[in-house]
Amino acid sequence: MAFQKPTGTQDLLPGVVEKWQFVEEKIRDLCRRFNYREIRTPIFEQTTLFERGVGETTDIVEKEMYTFKDKGDRSMTLRPEGTAGVVRAFVENKLYGEPDVTKLYYVGPMFRYERPQAGRQRQFHQFGVEAFGAVDPAIDAEVIALGYQFCVELGLKDVTVEVNSVGNAASRAAYREELLGFLRPMKDTLCKDCQNRMERNPLRVLDCKVDQDKFVGAPSILDSLDEEATDHFAKVQSLLKDFDVDYTVNTRLVRGLDYYTMTAFELKAQGIGAIDTVGGGGRYNGLVGDIGGPDQPGIGFGIGLERIQLILEHQNIDVSALAPLDVYFVALGEAADREVNRQLFKLRQSGLSGERDYLGRKMKAQMKSADRYKARYTAILGDDELERGEIALKAMDTGEQQTVKLEELITTIQGVK
Ligand code: HAM
Repeated sequence: MAFQKPTGTQDLLPGVVEKWQFVEEKIRDLCRRFNYREIRTPIFEQTTLFERGVGETTDIVEKEMYTFKDKGDRSMTLRPEGTAGVVRAFVENKLYGEPDVTKLYYVGPMFRYERPQAGRQRQFHQFGVEAFGAVDPAIDAEVIALGYQFCVELGLKDVTVEVNSVGNAASRAAYREELLGFLRPMKDTLCKDCQNRMERNPLRVLDCKVDQDKFVGAPSILDSLDEEATDHFAKVQSLLKDFDVDYTVNTRLVRGLDYYTMTAFELKAQGIGAIDTVGGGGRYNGLVGDIGGPDQPGIGFGIGLERIQLILEHQNIDVSALAPLDVYFVALGEAADREVNRQLFKLRQSGLSGERDYLGRKMKAQMKSADRYKARYTAILGDDELERGEIALKAMDTGEQQTVKLEELITTIQGVK
């Protein structure tokens, strides 16, 4: 029987993987400029970390985790998101002891048992950032602007940010009561999930895709914010204006994870179908404490890289430019063949890229190969040229051919680079 990849996973083949490399290079360059440093945490963690960190009433923990017992009978889970693991590492490695704000980023696979569709996978990839140790609204605005700038620099069009404030614990408790007052009379008309969720987590009910229309007159959380949260949210917004971030306030934005406090936001791209959220994030001022660390605030986002790829494709943004090969070598004869191997190795050592034929093909087939690799030059060596210490160099764009000394081959190519 032939094997197939697991449902909801992808093979990223040459031709496509260059697009991923392009996006990953952008991430590293951007994070360097914003002074975020990379962190790599395990792909699996103790199940309780996610139960406690992400929240027991979330879809992720209730239905979507890849959980297994290891051979020591411990319950482990493939990470469904990046924040919980980074917070665990922040606490375990006592990064909170550093004098500056800790600004981290990560890129890697996450796992959720979801029904696969365009932009929704069971193994997907996130670019995420997390900043710990500051309550200053400037860090909220920086994190949001970083996610937005990432999309802008990739050339994505029509990306907008929706922001909201879900307040601190006190204002959320006040809002909870208000909202329950609004929801209880309509309980019987709501979907099963919402009915179950209502008393435990009424804010999440507003997030329901099925019942959206019924919540038009719902009270706004912004009216329940205390002075501190109101002030914080106003400052975040004025900074976003300074940074020219295209944002709107969406008072019903609550996000699907339980750890958020104060600022919550999502990056949206219109026109890519039902799933239009590219990324999301927010503040989590209680999470570090919840998982056993000191009382330290945090804020971050996660951006789905499959969705980024989808938009790049949908908007016809070509980042695929397969880096052209500098030189394709063609050897005619046995002695020439050996010399080509030496020249190719020297070329690669010098920083240029090169390739040769390994299949004993005729010259014509080798020239076709050079075309497929988009080689800038073909270097053709026969036994006669070899005796003279020369090689024929053909520029593939103009078809022009010249003879150069073997020892000058690399400098000649470097000279016209
Ligand atoms: P999240 O909203 O669950 O947040 O996920 C962030 C992004 O990951 C989504 O907007 C989406 O682009 C992508 N994503 C999620 N699930 C899938 C899936 N099954 N297939 C493809 N892409 C997916 C978080 O994960 C938080 N940890 C973000 C955060 C960081 N908040 C604070 N810090």
